[in-house]
Amino acid sequence: MTRILMVCLGNICRSPLAHGILQSQISNQNFHIDSAGTGAYHIGNPPDPRSISVAKKYGLDISNQKARQFKAEDFDAFDIIYAMDKSNYDNIIKLARTKDDVKKVKLFLDENPLVSDKNVPDPYYGGEDGFETVYNLVANTCKLIVKKLNLAQ
Ligand code: 4NP
Repeated sequence: MTRILMVCLGNICRSPLAHGILQSQISNQNFHIDSAGTGAYHIGNPPDPRSISVAKKYGLDISNQKARQFKAEDFDAFDIIYAMDKSNYDNIIKLARTKDDVKKVKLFLDENPLVSDKNVPDPYYGGEDGFETVYNLVANTCKLIVKKLNLAQ
């Protein structure tokens, strides 16, 4: 069983997309995907309507997801913790209790050699086009993750 957690700041824009997209690309049952935010602002809320909308455009329903905050116990519950940007990475690392916890945390875009800026841009304060950009960036990177981890079988 491979357990993967996607983490951004609010858990309403980027990580719900990463969660839904990776889940949709995996065909075997031997995995568990979830998402969380380092901030507490949106706990209990559904994804941002613009994330729901861009996902729907690509045939994906993420409307049932609910935001939650990242907690230290997530280091026990997951094998890989992907941070959507460097600031989220730093905030996750602050909660690490052991070297093994630290080892589980990765920058999501480090899995994509085609992009040089390793931060998934925060689309919250921008327009719809930002959500389209995030969707494509995340979908392309998830494909590379599926290949790397052999999750397609
Ligand atoms: P996310 O986007 O981290 O991709 O979910 C944000 C959502 C909310 C806020 C910031 C970023 N906020 O400041 O409320």
